[in-house]
Amino acid sequence: MRSHYCGQLNETHVGEAVSLCGWVHRRRDHGGVIFLDLRDRDGITQVVYDPDTQDSFAIAEGVRSEFVVQVKGLVRARPEGTVNPDMPTGRIEVLGKELKVLNAAQTPPIQLDEHVDVHEDIRLRYRYIDLRRPEMVEKLRFRSKVTNTIRNFLDENGFLDIETPILTRATPEGARDYLVPSRTHQGRFFALPQSPQLFKQILMAAGMDRYYQIAKCFRDEDLRADRQPEFTQVDIETSFMDEEQIMTVTEAMIRQVFKKHLDVELGDFPRMTYAEAMRRYGSDKPDLRIDLELVDVADLMQDVDFKVFSGPARDPESRVVALKVTGGASISRKEIDDYTRFVGIYGARGLAWIKVNELAAGLEGLQSPIIKFMPEATVNELMKRLAVADGDIVFFGADKAGVVNEAIGALRVRVGHDLGLVRGNWAPLWVIDFPMFEEDSDGDLTPLHHPFTSPSCGIEELAANPGAALSRAYDMVLNGTELGGGSIRINVPETQQLVFKVLGIGDEEAREKFGFLLDALKFGCPPHGGIAFGLDRLIMLMTGANSIREVIAFPKTQSAACLLTDAPGQVSAEQLNELSIRVRERVKEQP
Ligand code: AMO
Ligand code: AMP
Repeated sequence: MRSHYCGQLNETHVGEAVSLCGWVHRRRDHGGVIFLDLRDRDGITQVVYDPDTQDSFAIAEGVRSEFVVQVKGLVRARPEGTVNPDMPTGRIEVLGKELKVLNAAQTPPIQLDEHVDVHEDIRLRYRYIDLRRPEMVEKLRFRSKVTNTIRNFLDENGFLDIETPILTRATPEGARDYLVPSRTHQGRFFALPQSPQLFKQILMAAGMDRYYQIAKCFRDEDLRADRQPEFTQVDIETSFMDEEQIMTVTEAMIRQVFKKHLDVELGDFPRMTYAEAMRRYGSDKPDLRIDLELVDVADLMQDVDFKVFSGPARDPESRVVALKVTGGASISRKEIDDYTRFVGIYGARGLAWIKVNELAAGLEGLQSPIIKFMPEATVNELMKRLAVADGDIVFFGADKAGVVNEAIGALRVRVGHDLGLVRGNWAPLWVIDFPMFEEDSDGDLTPLHHPFTSPSCGIEELAANPGAALSRAYDMVLNGTELGGGSIRINVPETQQLVFKVLGIGDEEAREKFGFLLDALKFGCPPHGGIAFGLDRLIMLMTGANSIREVIAFPKTQSAACLLTDAPGQVSAEQLNELSIRVRERVKEQP
């Protein structure tokens, strides 16, 4: 039906007869001539109808925004003075000869011809209209190109693209499972995969050597800007490669993606241990573009007259840290109050501060609600350690280490952005040497990565002191976002059984849930390891989008619903019957 895409036409086409198909972006009636801006995936071309072509002129009078039409006409140079240099097709226009309405449109709920803020619910409900917007087309096109580069890279490096099941057993990655009831095995359920983790390991046991998959993963967890219940991983697994080799090849992949699609040289990624990242940034995914650091000051606060500080200073499970913000003394009281509320979200019970107005003036030159509780020598020592200068502010956090890390770590990023302290565009790094386990609120150990991650130490050491064991896991972090995570896996059944035991999974439960894996480890499973990258997050960062919803064609809302299809939906009594499922009355009544 078409000879060209709208965005393709330029001066070289002048004089050519063309046929274009697309949507009426805008219609303007200039008394006697009608202008249609015709839009398709590739761009916009201006089409002009004058009364000489009587029939089509009459049709042009009747078309409205978002009508789908076919235009036949002649490309001509725009008259002097009407050239639009900002538009790729701004030097030409099409003199319309024929016009055919292929589909009429009601007034669209989203205005596309001018920039208006539309509520996200409307955008998601009418996603097919929202996706017509050039910036949305651009994001999806960009995503398609990036996945193509990734596929080519992995293919050239010997990786096989292998699909793994969606109807499967639970794969623990720390979230709740989405369950699917079985009709043929009543009372039993499939789980949608939280990741292809176990299948990719089994593919290594099967000798596939190098696997990848652009894989859909499903996790029923609390959603945020960078989390969706259904998302896409670039999932990778290899045999006979150590962590160094896996990091090298996948880092090269990400470097190539950035070079090819953004013309950015990322260079070699620095490595940082988990312990260092937590100590200096309060986070295992530090944004290294922000040059602010947490400094431990517990040793100075043991004996101050301020219990809020001296208590945590003496508690080995707590931290007292200072965050110096160069030039931050200009932050107002109101802003400090805002920051205090902000750290409160992370459980901090306050936010002490010292403004350095004039260092040379001693205590007189400092302004703070807390220095009155400290001996002068302590204050001096503190100022020396932090190497403060006039015009700085120092914030403090004192609490359990977890609270301080989260609160002051988040404050560091927030203040960094607020004061324009973000340097450069891209700061990738690897975080390594993660602990095997962390303690949950009940004091139980849970895996920091997943239960199939290999410890760095031997099995005896792991058994003796699991809480202190490090793992062979690594995360790729970019600008404060965890882009990917992986590890060398356990490939001997004894170690796997020990890890299950540490996690409180008894032999019987381990057999029931993971018997197939334990068996696979018994029949010749090579040493193996891999990684998975969050594709949505990668595209979000590369396109500068502020949420992964912007780079997913059909995302779900914050409450994990699809507004377009109105899913999850109700099902008929018949279907439930077939599955032997009864929904409780109380739940049914909810709207
Ligand atoms: P992990 O759970 O770290 O590891 O996930 C890997 C990457 O997937 C992305 N990601 C998400 N993206 C959007 N929405 C979500 N809800 C979401 N959850 C995770 C992140 C993350 O870094 N099987 C292991 C990988 C391995 O060990 O090889 C796994 O899934 O970018
Ligand atoms: P108060 O004596 O409670 O008014 O606290 C004095 C200052 O210490 C205030 O600026 C509080 O915001 C701050 N503060 C209170 N608790 C903490 C804490 N756990 N960590 C850091 N600062 C705190």
